[in-house]
Amino acid sequence: MPIMKGHRIPEVTPELLISELEIRERVEEIATQINLEFEGKAPLVLIGVLKGAFILLADLSRRLTISHSVEFVAISSYGKQDTDAGEIKLRLDLSDDIEGRHVIIVEDILDTGNTLKYLISMLEARNPASLSTCVLVQKQGRAPIDVPVDYLGFEVPDVWLVGYGLDFAEQHRTLPYIGIVRPNAD
Ligand code: PRP
Repeated sequence: MPIMKGHRIPEVTPELLISELEIRERVEEIATQINLEFEGKAPLVLIGVLKGAFILLADLSRRLTISHSVEFVAISSYGKQDTDAGEIKLRLDLSDDIEGRHVIIVEDILDTGNTLKYLISMLEARNPASLSTCVLVQKQGRAPIDVPVDYLGFEVPDVWLVGYGLDFAEQHRTLPYIGIVRPNAD
């Protein structure tokens, strides 16, 4: 998440929203579900959206007992504001072909839905065997764009979240829990 004009980086400890244990248990549940649904359906590839998804992807991948590979994409949103992702561009593409493969896009957060919509459209055009989405947190009352979420960690309030991959101006990504920060406008 880029720093927004008029916000300053908070120096306070984020307020706990979802604990490390709750995250671990939910990720295990999702991994179990994926194991069951994709068993015998290889090849499966998890595609993490950098940077925010790197921790979820690492934990999810290590809890899968079925064979799979991992890939990453990176996106740039120019002119991104609170309510608008602006123009989206691909900054880093996959290193491999996904035609005929089962694909799960792994995202940390669904906010407006613009990023996921863009990725679904881009990846569907490459003819995967199937395309699913796994999102750690979805903001309630947001995502005006209708995008399918097949595996959802948690619904969360529309507040600034950090931890477990989520950042505020590149801070707090490595917190083991998900917390709330309350940026103060100058
Ligand atoms: C965040 C997040 C998603 C996107 C979701 O990325 O990781 O990719 O925003 O927002 P949307 O639903 O409104 O499109 P961000 O631009 O903050 O980059 P980062 O992952 O590198 O932190």
